Amino acid sequence: VPLSLLALALLTGVRAQPALPSPAVPTLPPLSAQITTQPIGDSIFPALGQAGLDVLNYDLDLTVDRPGTSELRGTAVLTIDATRALPVLSLDFSGPAVLEVNWDGLAAPFRQDEAAGKLTVQPPRPLLPGTRATVMVRFAGQVGRRPDPDLPLNVGWQAVPAEGQRAGANFTLSEPDGTRTFLPVNDHPSDPATFTTRITVPAGYTAAASGVQRSEEDAPNGGHTLTFEQAQPIPTYALAIHVGRFERVDSPAVPVGKGGSEVLRRDYFPSGIPAGTRDAYTSTGEILKVLAEWFGPFPFSAYGSAIVTPRVPALETATLSTMPVTSSNVRVLVHETAHQWFGDRVTLADWSGVWLNEGFATYAELLWAQAQGEDGEDMVRGWYTRAGRSGTRPLIATTERQLFDTTAYIRGALALHAVRLTVDDTAFKAYLRGWVSGFSARPVTTADLLIYTRSTLGAGAEAALRLWVDSPELPPLPAR
Ligand code: ARG
Ligand code: ZN
Repeated sequence: VPLSLLALALLTGVRAQPALPSPAVPTLPPLSAQITTQPIGDSIFPALGQAGLDVLNYDLDLTVDRPGTSELRGTAVLTIDATRALPVLSLDFSGPAVLEVNWDGLAAPFRQDEAAGKLTVQPPRPLLPGTRATVMVRFAGQVGRRPDPDLPLNVGWQAVPAEGQRAGANFTLSEPDGTRTFLPVNDHPSDPATFTTRITVPAGYTAAASGVQRSEEDAPNGGHTLTFEQAQPIPTYALAIHVGRFERVDSPAVPVGKGGSEVLRRDYFPSGIPAGTRDAYTSTGEILKVLAEWFGPFPFSAYGSAIVTPRVPALETATLSTMPVTSSNVRVLVHETAHQWFGDRVTLADWSGVWLNEGFATYAELLWAQAQGEDGEDMVRGWYTRAGRSGTRPLIATTERQLFDTTAYIRGALALHAVRLTVDDTAFKAYLRGWVSGFSARPVTTADLLIYTRSTLGAGAEAALRLWVDSPELPPLPAR
């Protein structure tokens, strides 16, 4: 590295790339090149992502040498396209140190900026719309830290240290923007992608990830390499990866896929959890059937849960919900299962619309209760009381702290209830199914839902929804 560039790197706080053996180390990109890139422009997270970048697939090859620690190494191969000419590639990454970047097989100059959380790569020529490129990033070291604004945890790669009889474990818990702490990604739900995840673990450990398991092979020193394929696009935060000592339990497939096709069923239970923890998961097949009736075919080829021991929020990781031991109950499982449609399949255009995930998933809890023969009135009244007690706001979030508040969940669910009560259940079912089938290819906003509501259910339904979306106060309890 020429001295002047090294000095520049030190001055600007940029980590200089480690020296590589010959051929000569590529130079850092000129600073001016960076100015021409723009983030996606999310209203809550204005720095996330790169405008015009479309990642189609992430092909991951990860090795966890010491489960339960924050060490991670591997490669990520991104297949990318652009919707506008991109002079440089700007990925979200505050993870382990980058050792090497290749662009279509050739070494490419790069810059890893920890403070900005960006990995900038200089392509041999600008990436033009309609051209594919393959970008390989090799990294090793400690994952980054990204504290949650409300909860005492860092989102991203979780490390569960070994304790007593319990083996060390790792798992992902990334919503909203934790994936960038361990993988170079376009870390925004408006750019969902497919994933191939290969994980190598030491002897005595196993691994799981979103998608369908394709293979398990022996690795050096008695370890294993497992490969998972997530063939339908998902947001980056919805990628599940688990490493630990756990048991995989297969159950009969459930015919809730497209055209009645079978959805594979598997759950993962860590060794040493209380026996009763498993009970809730015997309902998974029935939950899939009830929800598929309301929402349409299950969007992925497999579904189940991976149970984790820390007290963290449950998360709707695609095809494999992340379920803490402490949240192993049917209601939470229904909620996370509903997110497979709302959040993982229908994805957000902007984080301010997160109620479109949480409101629909919470509403599914009512649909489930009613499928069990309850009239659901207690649940709706309970929601209304809670919403009244906890303070309210219009549904579109304006700050990060609002993303997972009572309004997103409960007022969001009440808004859908208000829509439902303007029509009959046949129309409401068609409405829910149409939202999923019509908006799976394009990320959604609240405005999309309002327009969709008017065009499918009419002006009365739209007005009912709009009141719940916009009013600074809590609207009256919906009634027929
Ligand atoms: N989407 C999750 C659920 O409701 C909640 C995630 C909360 N995440 C957080 N970082 N606070 O199922
Ligand atoms: Zn949720």
